[in-house]
Amino acid sequence: GGGVVGDITGFIAATYMRGIPFIQLPTTLLAQVDSSVGGKVAVNHPQGKNLIGAFYQPKLVLIDPATLETLPVREWLSGLAEVIKYGVIRDESLFDLLSGTELAALRQDKASLMKIIQKSCAIKAEVVAADEKETGLRMILNFGHTIGHAIESAGAYTKYTHGEAVAIGMAGAAKLARRVGWCGERVCNAIEKTILRYGLPVRFSGLDTSQVEGRLYHDKKKEGDKIRWVLPKGIGTVDMTTDVPGSAVREVLAELAG
Ligand SMILES: NC(=O)c1ccc[n+]([C@@H]2O[C@H](COP(=O)([O-])OP(=O)(O)OC[C@H]3O[C@@H](n4cnc5c(N)ncnc54)[C@H](O)[C@@H]3O)[C@@H](O)[C@H]2O)c1
Ligand SMILES: [Zn+2]
Repeated sequence: GGGVVGDITGFIAATYMRGIPFIQLPTTLLAQVDSSVGGKVAVNHPQGKNLIGAFYQPKLVLIDPATLETLPVREWLSGLAEVIKYGVIRDESLFDLLSGTELAALRQDKASLMKIIQKSCAIKAEVVAADEKETGLRMILNFGHTIGHAIESAGAYTKYTHGEAVAIGMAGAAKLARRVGWCGERVCNAIEKTILRYGLPVRFSGLDTSQVEGRLYHDKKKEGDKIRWVLPKGIGTVDMTTDVPGSAVREVLAELAG
């Protein structure tokens, strides 16, 4: 199944009799490129998303792209947002591949599809192998997720899919990076253009901006009182900082709502 089935199964495997072996058979693009790899297994609680969980690695992840043939377009796009993320944080050639194709072509061209799944898994596995418990490097996987989670939560997890919210979050992080002088207009535009190429959103609507801002400060990825931002320095390179003025964040949120 998708990330929900994988997470529930993984969490039960981690806790039943203090742990039994399990394998992942992901059938959504998001699960194939992201949630099935890395060993984070969690379930939601009324108090918060992914609040009860563990780090628990599967014995095997078996990915068959043929399962994606029945996947609805909106779910394809949710996974592709994470693939765009991998390109921006770690792999310019993956980003270029995505910038030069589109969803309809990817669904036909099995070789390109295999390539993006393989590259995504390799990036996630490499980052997780270096920092399994997320004390440093693994945090770069949260690129686009700071604003993304705030939007997802402000939309009660129904207005935007995870990938749509992450797409808006990546556009926001790029704008923020430009404001703090980490990247120029070219990088910012390239990120937006690739997101838009797939029909994913780069703005939100129908949400209260101050509510989105409030949710930002409730994120569990905070460092003390400060938000730890993952921002692009170029395509394929990101870095982290807690040094972003609240006024810049507010201006970017206003732009995203525009
Ligand atoms: N553990 C992690 O590291 C991690 C990372 C990212 C996301 N997640 C979690 O993953 C979940 C999102 O995963 P998701 O996007 O796969 O959503 P999902 O599991 O809800 O699946 C999306 C929809 O697609 C359907 N579906 C699954 N496979 C299908 C197929 N082959 N054909 C047709 N329909 C199919 C499902 O029934 C569901 O309705 C969230 O709960 C998120 O918290 C976990
Ligand atoms: Zn994600």
